Amino acid sequence: MAIEYKKDDRQFHLYNRDISYVISIMQNEQVGQLYFGARLPINRSYTYLLETAPRYMTSYSFEGDWAFSPEHIRQEYPAYGAGDYRQPAVELLQENGSRISGLRYVSHRIFSGKPTLEGLPATYVEEDDEADSLEICLKDDLCQTELYLLYTIFAGCGAVARSARFVQPQGTTPVMVDTAMSLCVDLPGRDYEMVQLSGAWARERSVITRPLQQGIQSIGSRRGISSANHNPFLALTRPGCTEHVGQVYGFSLVYSGNFLAQAEVTTHDETRVLLGIHPDGFCWQLAPGQTLQTPEAVAVFSSNGYNGMSQIYHRLYQNRLCRGPWRDKPRPILINNWEATYFGFDEEKLLAIAQKAKQIGVELFVLDDGWFGKRDDDTTSLGDWQANLEKLPGGIAGLAKRVQALGLDFGLWFEPEMVNKDSELYRAHPDWVLHTPQRPMCHGRNQYVLDMARPEVVECLYTQMAAVLDGASVSYVKWDMNRCLTEVYSAALPPQRQGEVFHRYVLGVYALYQRLLDRFPDILFESCASGGARFDPGMLYYAPQAWASDDTDAAQRLEIQYGTSFVYPVSSIGAHVSASPNEQLGRVSPLKMRGDVAVFGTFGYELDLAKLPPEDLAEMAQQITLMKQYRQLIQFGRFYRLASPFVDGVTAWMVVNGEQTEALVGWYRVLNAVNAPFSRLPLAGLLPDVEYVVEELGQPGEYGAFTGRELTQIGLLTGDGSCGIPHMAKQRTTDFMSRLYHIVKK
Ligand code: GLA
Repeated sequence: MAIEYKKDDRQFHLYNRDISYVISIMQNEQVGQLYFGARLPINRSYTYLLETAPRYMTSYSFEGDWAFSPEHIRQEYPAYGAGDYRQPAVELLQENGSRISGLRYVSHRIFSGKPTLEGLPATYVEEDDEADSLEICLKDDLCQTELYLLYTIFAGCGAVARSARFVQPQGTTPVMVDTAMSLCVDLPGRDYEMVQLSGAWARERSVITRPLQQGIQSIGSRRGISSANHNPFLALTRPGCTEHVGQVYGFSLVYSGNFLAQAEVTTHDETRVLLGIHPDGFCWQLAPGQTLQTPEAVAVFSSNGYNGMSQIYHRLYQNRLCRGPWRDKPRPILINNWEATYFGFDEEKLLAIAQKAKQIGVELFVLDDGWFGKRDDDTTSLGDWQANLEKLPGGIAGLAKRVQALGLDFGLWFEPEMVNKDSELYRAHPDWVLHTPQRPMCHGRNQYVLDMARPEVVECLYTQMAAVLDGASVSYVKWDMNRCLTEVYSAALPPQRQGEVFHRYVLGVYALYQRLLDRFPDILFESCASGGARFDPGMLYYAPQAWASDDTDAAQRLEIQYGTSFVYPVSSIGAHVSASPNEQLGRVSPLKMRGDVAVFGTFGYELDLAKLPPEDLAEMAQQITLMKQYRQLIQFGRFYRLASPFVDGVTAWMVVNGEQTEALVGWYRVLNAVNAPFSRLPLAGLLPDVEYVVEELGQPGEYGAFTGRELTQIGLLTGDGSCGIPHMAKQRTTDFMSRLYHIVKK
């Protein structure tokens, strides 16, 4: 990997084994995009890709020139209003009311490694030789604003990280940054399909695909959180792309707040991708001496289909976005009491569950909502993080001790960013909630959002949480966030800074996370937002796992986990076995299927174990044994999607270890089919000429021995044509069937 600068062409070529990213300084001193895709030869000029042509009804930058038309030129950080009519990456509102800027090249530097981004999560390197970075400095001569575009190319994967930093020098006048995207890439042509991960509460991150058309197609969030509705990610693929072959561009934003992810196809069939903080509701006053850092966007290119793209994100985010001692560790198998008890628990009830959990092999007991203040329902006490001594006479410390005496670790739920009106905190500081003066406030789940833009709010939450965590031995924290932001206005900021509140809120959340991590580095954080409404790369920097969804139904979880895996590694996907009938859908499904789905995640249980019959507990003990045996492989192996719940009627995926000597396949069919054809499931990621032994877990005997080539080109037999009449069937099949196949080199 390296960054080549060709002085004569003013061209930068960022490359590694797999990809090239080529940009240049154009004659208007702005940065042009020449190429992003599979690796190109170095030491060559690609400036011929700066395509200019004389056209009518367009605008040109230079007098006497009928070719350099900004609206037709591929750019890296286009500005509003000076000849480019597409959506811009930057818009600066100046004192005289003008929004026209002229950010022009000043200098650049190329260096090994990757700098951190102040106050923001970002991918990182541990050694400088893991990545090279390029920083290009541009400046507007009139308003003096400086812009630093940062690019990092990683050695081991097809990813480029980008961000932008604005600086307003001392002694100048302030500018208002109205739009500051993290990434703009102009790609040639319009022959792409756009993939997005969209949904809603309890059905997060469905895979949605559509061909691009001329005009704008975008997704985003203006909810203050990345949201369950759209994930901060989009991919563009060439038609015909599958899980295993085809060209894919991925664009992922390392951020947890409002975002815009957009593809704009011009009527000359050029495609602009924009990714960054949503410009709606954003306006940042950049005062002299101040800096604005945008979040990081990670662009990926793969020629190996969706799986190729996902594997790049998995590896990068797992190893160089997640941090701390838990990054590389198999995740504890937990029991969470939420779906078991909701708010209705006392210490004895919890301990009865914990005892059973220990007996079946669980490692961590997590106490969810309802332990603090007077919280017996969701109308009260958020903000008052002191234990309810009626429910827990020994407080959190007492309960933690009793749980630990059973041989389990102890974990605790918080929802720091929220407050109920019925709380000591709200009574003391009613102006600490986000609200617009003299206007009514929306509530969500009877709660209000604390103004995380205020340092004193962050301080108060830190003090309260640190007191609980200091006073008891807590090894895991579930950090929840159960409503979207409304009436966003901070009583602590002047009028001209109200456009900063959404972003400052997110910075406050990150600051609180960081302070807690600094003080309690060994705690494993799991993020949560009514399930997966803030499942984003920004959160992974602080919390290496996230509760994927409040929907724990196994069939629905297939879709959720499948979609989530487009960007996020298995080790980050919080997945639990819950009760049947399922709490959200009332659906009855076998314990086997519930377990076989949840093992492809962090794995745990969320139901009242004390009420289960011995045979269920025995089956769970087997599931836990299995998970302990394979969790390193599952959580840290290379993950492949094989069959999609959105298109194939069955779901299948597999993980393969680094040496390609061992794999585990999960196969799931929600509804049975009668008189069905033979079906085979081609696998992936195995060595073609190696012979593997295949065993279906839980079934006696070997399934067979096959070469990797047979397993990938022919596949595993998953349907044997049995016609559905019991006495004629070779194998009885039913609805809600699942199988796990273990594959090991012979
Ligand atoms: C949210 C979470 C759940 C649970 C409840 C508690 O809905 O997603 O897992 O913690 O809050 O109120």
